[in-house]
Amino acid sequence: MPDPGTALRSTSVPQLLAEIADVGTDPVRGGYSRPVYGAAESDLREWFTEHAGRRGLDVETDRNGIIWAWWNPRRLPLQNAVVTGSHLDSVPGGGAFDGPLGVASALAAVDRLTASGIRPTRPLAVAVFPEEEGSRFGIACLGSRLLTGTLDPARAARLTDADGTTFAEAVSRHGLDADHLGRDEEALRRIGLFVELHVEQGRGLVDLDQPVAVASSVLAHGRWRLSVFGEGNHAGATSMSDRRDPMVAAAAVIGAARDVARSRPGARATVGRLVPVPGGTNVIASRVDLWLDARHPDDVATAALVAAIGERATAVAAEEGCTVTLTEESLSPAVRFDVPLRDRLTGVLPTAPLLATGAGHDAGVLATEVPTAMLFVRNPTGVSHSPAEHVEDADTDLGAEALARVLHDLLGPGGERLTGQGPADG
Ligand code: GLV
Ligand code: MN
Ligand code: MN
Repeated sequence: MPDPGTALRSTSVPQLLAEIADVGTDPVRGGYSRPVYGAAESDLREWFTEHAGRRGLDVETDRNGIIWAWWNPRRLPLQNAVVTGSHLDSVPGGGAFDGPLGVASALAAVDRLTASGIRPTRPLAVAVFPEEEGSRFGIACLGSRLLTGTLDPARAARLTDADGTTFAEAVSRHGLDADHLGRDEEALRRIGLFVELHVEQGRGLVDLDQPVAVASSVLAHGRWRLSVFGEGNHAGATSMSDRRDPMVAAAAVIGAARDVARSRPGARATVGRLVPVPGGTNVIASRVDLWLDARHPDDVATAALVAAIGERATAVAAEEGCTVTLTEESLSPAVRFDVPLRDRLTGVLPTAPLLATGAGHDAGVLATEVPTAMLFVRNPTGVSHSPAEHVEDADTDLGAEALARVLHDLLGPGGERLTGQGPADG
């Protein structure tokens, strides 16, 4: 059987990414802004569907908006499938690779598998998950959370974007029925395991001088809304001694979050978004909403970190005469990827190091349901969620080749035994 790594390559990953290089460019922020179900992300969904069709894959969109493209040359029952894929939405002003690299690499891997002449013992699906970043509706990995039932579908339907459009309205414009969102037993039953390839979002591979890694774990992480309440008033008519300005309190809250996280090894706290209400240059705000992203390797320590930030925020805001509320928006426990599957990947890729990540992924959400694993591809800048994110062309092809080898191993004789072993060993 020809080696999937050396077999004929129909389309290279750089070619695939070049096709979408102009989709969703952001002239204001730089990089790409591809919010889920916006024009750019919808164009990318069409681009993917067209490529899947060209390869003879059967494409369907499930009731949670996840696209599944099936490669099943032997017409096997749709169960115990090997699933790969990623997402096509981006953060505001994001890079070209976070998400699309995994999707393009999956297509390139299918080309290699087809050319290898393998007789797969189980079906393969390429999945594209909506709203992985949570940039539009606030909750990351929305598609996989709905699929697995870890997010209440009624709550998801009510989520709103910055313009007041609800998730229910957005999905209905894309032919989905908001009443049918939620845990999908049938879709879950089809998945035997999930392997997601992703750009590395730190400097791990650069420092190790390696192109591809196998993931070991994901930090616990979540999002909290910190609202700071003061007194809205006139910027000119209100003396400096007569103010309860929540913007000033918010500045102190952000510093406090940084100080609390710095005092706890392994902790991360970020306020990347701040919304003053009503938000006018000559208006002292009445309220400021801060979005706190907090992470730590340990679930209990994550909860303690957020509680400590809440306490400090209350204290520093009080010094400005302001009050604070803290609301959890989403929480993802720490993930240790499935050890037998991980070992299988490192068996196929013996030089690939194991790497932990601080970034969240759909593979982390799915880990509660099926064995999941990830491959990371070197990012020479070590920067992500920024236009500076980068992958060299040669490394994108090495990544696709690594993915193809892994999929070949899992699809071939013996691969079918690797399933149903449940999530990581603790
Ligand atoms: C997604 O990239 C996240 O880690 O927030
Ligand atoms: Mn991603
Ligand atoms: Mn991301």
